[in-house]
Formats: sequence, C-alpha cells, structure tokens
Amino acid sequence: MKIYKAKDYNDMSRKAANIISAQIIMKPDCVLGLATGSTPIGAYRQLVEWYNKGDLDFSEVTTVNLDEYRGLPRENDQSYYYFMNENLFEKVNIDKNKTFLPDGMEEDSETACQKYNEIIHSIGGVDLQLLGLGHNGHIGFNEPGIAFETETHCVTLSERTIKANMRFFLSEEHVPRQAYTMGIKTIMSAHKILVVVSGEDKADIVRTAFLGPVTPQVPASILQLHNDVILVADEAALSQSPELC
Ligand code: F6R
Repeated sequence: MKIYKAKDYNDMSRKAANIISAQIIMKPDCVLGLATGSTPIGAYRQLVEWYNKGDLDFSEVTTVNLDEYRGLPRENDQSYYYFMNENLFEKVNIDKNKTFLPDGMEEDSETACQKYNEIIHSIGGVDLQLLGLGHNGHIGFNEPGIAFETETHCVTLSERTIKANMRFFLSEEHVPRQAYTMGIKTIMSAHKILVVVSGEDKADIVRTAFLGPVTPQVPASILQLHNDVILVADEAALSQSPELC
C-alpha cells in the first residue's frame, strides 16, 4: 500500500485529484469507480477546476458508482445520482450515457443488483476505484460482518451509518434504511484503489482498518490484501497510525 500524507483536507483533495487525473491522462477511456459522501467532494471540485482550465478531458471516461439508496428517486437531492450530477457530471464533458449507478428505484433488489453486476462486467471492470471510509470501517455500503465474496447486493444500513448520514436529511426517519452497493469482491477486482480519508474522527478506524487484522467485522481491512492501494489521508486521520507514515 502506498500512503500519501496530506496536510489537511484541501491538500488531500488535491493529491487525490492528481491521481485520478493521471489515470484519465494515461488512459482516456478508463473506467473510474466513484464514491459519494463528504470526503471526495474536494477532489471532484479540483477535477472540475482542471477541466475548466482545459487540462482534463472526460469525453471517453466511463464511471460506475459504488452505491445508491434504495427507494430514493433520482431527483431527490440526497440521491447519489443527484450528488454525482451536482459535484461532477454536470460540470465536465462526460458522456452521461457512460455514467452508471445502481437503480435505486428498482424495487426488486435481485433485478437491481443483477443489472448492475452486468453493467460492471460489460464495461470490463474498474481501472481506478475511489473509496471513502466509514467510521465503522464500511466501504461502499458494505457494513461490518459482510462476506468478502459478494458482488452488488442490497444492504440494510447499520444504526451508526444511519446516524452518520442523518446530517444530510431532515431527520433520522428520512434516512433510507437500505441501499444497493457494489460488493467487496467487485471493489477488490479494481486494478487500482484510491482511498481518501480526512479528519481526526477517522483516525481510529484508519488504524483498525490498515493496521489491524483482516476481518469482515472491518470491511475496509480487506484492502490490505489488494496489491495496488493508495491511501491519501490527512495528518488528523493518520494521527493514530504513526507506523503508516
Ligand atoms: C459513498 C460510500 C460510503 C462513504 C463513507 C464515508 O459512496 O460508499 O462508503 O465513502 O460512508 O463517507 P464520508 O466521506 O461522508 O465520511
């Protein structure tokens, strides 16, 4: 695992955006696996800035997102579809037909997951997968206890994740209880994985995930077994893991 220690959130975002843009420049028709949440927003902002300067071209890029809430319409401003449009897709020259997320409005979870697996297989897998890290060690919406062998599946969110995501909704009752997510097997199939982490509140889970035992109880710990992982974390997130620096 390569580790880049960033000074702060902005530095982390710039470093992560540099890695993503290098991927696009090296392989203009690459497949990017994308994440939502607070952490990657700064990296997306930086990519948009470089696109506006004429330094980046997304016209041949394909994207697959990690996850989507089940039952939330695309127009809902908390859907991940909405998030991606708002933070990236509407702001660069990406072909919207080449951007994919699980269909949150497909009621039949088996159909939704099967369709998404087919999409991921048909585009030939992911070149670079961007990941955030949940406080409980989740990646995508793969919550503690999940089997490592899964592809896209429907999950019931843990209480901790519901509470963490509450900040985006009117109240706790409005947070969807389920989501469709890429599985660990799919994530681990990506050629390269870029994990972004910021803030002292993540210091504990960074230590557990990257220095502790590999266990389904900490889904991100499986990343220790991937042969091309880059962790870009700020000083605060790395503050309990001096061994990693
Ligand atoms: C987002 C996702 C989640 C987040 C994680 C961290 O698509 O799959 O795993 O990456 O919950 O979220 P933030 O960045 O908001 O702390």
